[in-house]
Amino acid sequence: MRNSLVLALSGLVLAPAVSAQAYDSGDRDREDFSWVQPKNTTILGPYGHVPPVYPSPNATGVGGWEDALQKARDFVAQLTLEEKADMVTGQPGPCVGNIVAIPRLGFNGICLHDGPLAIRVADYASVFMAGVSAASTWDREILYQRGLAMGREFKAKGAHVALSPVCGPLGRSAYSGRNWEGFSPDPYLTGVAMEETILGHQDAGVQATPKHFIGNEQEIMRNPTWKTNGTVGEKVQEAISSNIDDRTMHELYLWPFANAIHARAASVMCSYQRLNGTYACENSKAVNGLLKEELGFQGYVMSDWGSTHSGVSSIEGGLDMNMPGGLGGYGMNWKAGSFFGGNITRAVNNGTVPVERVDDMIIRIMTPYYWLGQDKDFPGIDPSTGDLNTFSPRSTWVREFNMTGERSVDVRGDHGALIRKHGAAATILLKNENKTLPLKAPKSIAVFGNDAGQITEGFYNQDEYEFGTLVAGGGSGTGRLTYLVDPLTAINARAAQDGSLVQQWLNNTLIAKTDVRTLWLPTPPDVCLVFLKTWAEEAADRASLHVDYDGDDVVDSVARYCSNTVVVTHSSGINVMPWANHPNVTAIIAAHFPGQESGNSLVDVLYGDVDPSGRLPYTIAHNASDYNAPIVTDIQTDGFYDWQSWFDEKLEIDYRYFDANNISVLYEFGFGLSYSTFELGEINVENVAGSNITSRPEHLPVQPGGNPALWETLYNVSIPVTNTGDVDGTTVAQLYITLPDSAPEGTPVRQLRGFDKLSLAAGQTGVANFELMRRDLSYWDVNAQDWVIPKGEFVLSVGFSSRDLPVTTTLTPVKGCTKRKL
Ligand code: BGC
Repeated sequence: MRNSLVLALSGLVLAPAVSAQAYDSGDRDREDFSWVQPKNTTILGPYGHVPPVYPSPNATGVGGWEDALQKARDFVAQLTLEEKADMVTGQPGPCVGNIVAIPRLGFNGICLHDGPLAIRVADYASVFMAGVSAASTWDREILYQRGLAMGREFKAKGAHVALSPVCGPLGRSAYSGRNWEGFSPDPYLTGVAMEETILGHQDAGVQATPKHFIGNEQEIMRNPTWKTNGTVGEKVQEAISSNIDDRTMHELYLWPFANAIHARAASVMCSYQRLNGTYACENSKAVNGLLKEELGFQGYVMSDWGSTHSGVSSIEGGLDMNMPGGLGGYGMNWKAGSFFGGNITRAVNNGTVPVERVDDMIIRIMTPYYWLGQDKDFPGIDPSTGDLNTFSPRSTWVREFNMTGERSVDVRGDHGALIRKHGAAATILLKNENKTLPLKAPKSIAVFGNDAGQITEGFYNQDEYEFGTLVAGGGSGTGRLTYLVDPLTAINARAAQDGSLVQQWLNNTLIAKTDVRTLWLPTPPDVCLVFLKTWAEEAADRASLHVDYDGDDVVDSVARYCSNTVVVTHSSGINVMPWANHPNVTAIIAAHFPGQESGNSLVDVLYGDVDPSGRLPYTIAHNASDYNAPIVTDIQTDGFYDWQSWFDEKLEIDYRYFDANNISVLYEFGFGLSYSTFELGEINVENVAGSNITSRPEHLPVQPGGNPALWETLYNVSIPVTNTGDVDGTTVAQLYITLPDSAPEGTPVRQLRGFDKLSLAAGQTGVANFELMRRDLSYWDVNAQDWVIPKGEFVLSVGFSSRDLPVTTTLTPVKGCTKRKL
């Protein structure tokens, strides 16, 4: 059975088995199509075992890259076969990823650097807020400005490619260790964030790399295990397989990648784990099918660091660049050879891989390079990056690298001010009893918690993070701080203006076990500020949704005697907050990972210089056990393929799940308070597509982002918003849609499809605008293999969170069954 299926599939692939030893694993992996039998065929839909999609489509440059593509073709025409192999294979060098130069053609090579909140391997660079904070702003302009400022820093350091931004993980599970690098479990919000960030990066002249494609929703077992501990040896177990049905794939996980391609992202990084049984980087359905064909992606697919598991299978499956290039656990065992490199020349010479495929790989790599003008006056690599790069230290370099940039060039510009502003805009006020905030020149302030003060173990990927405030998580998505404004320092500076007394206790163990009345001066403080944190890092998932270091006990201890306790969290993402309804906890702020100006951003909000306008990019449930979609932490068996994660919850992640099951939550998706109050006026819906809207889109030639008909605006929705309070303020108007009953089972109750952030003076009225595109009103029909607008009546709901939607109206784009059972 297994062999016959392989035979049936192999008729569709390009190449027979090859002699190169490194390719064996690839051919073996291809057989993996046969083993994954859908757990439940109806759940898995059309690809429980990954249908083959071959050959890998050639780039055409469609969508504005035509001229650049011609330059890339001319470049490729001049390359020798060995140079071609170099162009698609990373090598050890000064950057996190390196494509070597070809001096005879005036090509200076390509420098690739992490990551999603900073250029990581660099000195004198800024640490921006993390993705989760950026999403909390719900502000397109800020998302763009952050992306632009980051891009400028990458470029000034000589990095052609930013390994940013992240939309995989999307955030299926609250526990995933890398959720903070990305934006939100809502695909619409994340899609907008991807698009704006990518436009920002690329407007700065740097290639963006949306990652990790696709289904990388947990860290545990993201890679296979090896007998020889991370080098080339015998595999013990294959990496986890994310098993995702077709509809869920399109409506959740692929959705923000479509935005990324729509924004003309240069490159996409494929992920570590398996997808429906086949490694993501050789998954022809995902890479050739979804990305290159359906979404019309014209750039190149690079592997995550060591996520290439084969030569021919990967090349045929659509992988265009192998990073960092070597074999072994993380591709770092440079001496062990490469699935690409010399094997490319052998495979082309022995006819296994057509040279046209290799040419297309390079055309895809060089087209965005020319499109962004990276062949002209691009800054040289800062030599300091070579010193800081522990990933491929100098001792590993085998080729010459010409680092012509200025050493330790300071690329920060005025970004500190921007980061302060952005951090404040990302600050989410969850509770504010008796208008305790903003602070009004309190006479006495008590500061508690190990998150309040300065970092004690260095400014880069600390081993231990008990003491000091958190502004980023760990792993490749972190940044190297050049300074850090911690909350305590900023509070002291601000309090000095008012002559306030500031006392501090930063040892959680001490606070948790002490009667705090014995700590503070005889008079109780006017306000107790409690600082809590939650770490998360790459290659590990979170074990708990509680704050770290006995933080819950710290709040209990303080709130027992301090009647005005304000809790601030610096967390990687979702926390349960068992103390939220404590009567003495008067205010709660979720500040996430705000970047280097953390303390200043917070003080701006605490004292009311800036209105808190962050909104939750996820749901805070009452209990950890309320969340669904757990990650797989242990499988209790040792079968080679046994690590499986079934995305059985389908579309029901985060608020979609809580809404579908009517589960009460503590703070819902989209929630956040302002110091002012807002009211909505009458909703206005304008049909801009005419009366004959069809269920199925017109099939126009595919452009980057897919069928352009999906991106056409069908309706413009607007609604007046009035600041009814007595202070200036900022709010986020949000639009959710409910599809008609004719939509298939499993359709979420409500889905975000628009948001608009408005700053209004007290008493002022503005207008929130939302554009509804065809994709926004469609579901993915697995039978039609198309986006379909269901017949009947939609409900549009507008308000200030996913559960505060005072204004509703209906809409019937396609006539049909009009009755709704609500
Ligand atoms: C991460 C990527 C990162 C790469 C290079 C990998 O471990 O998954 O996100 O870009 O390392 O540091």
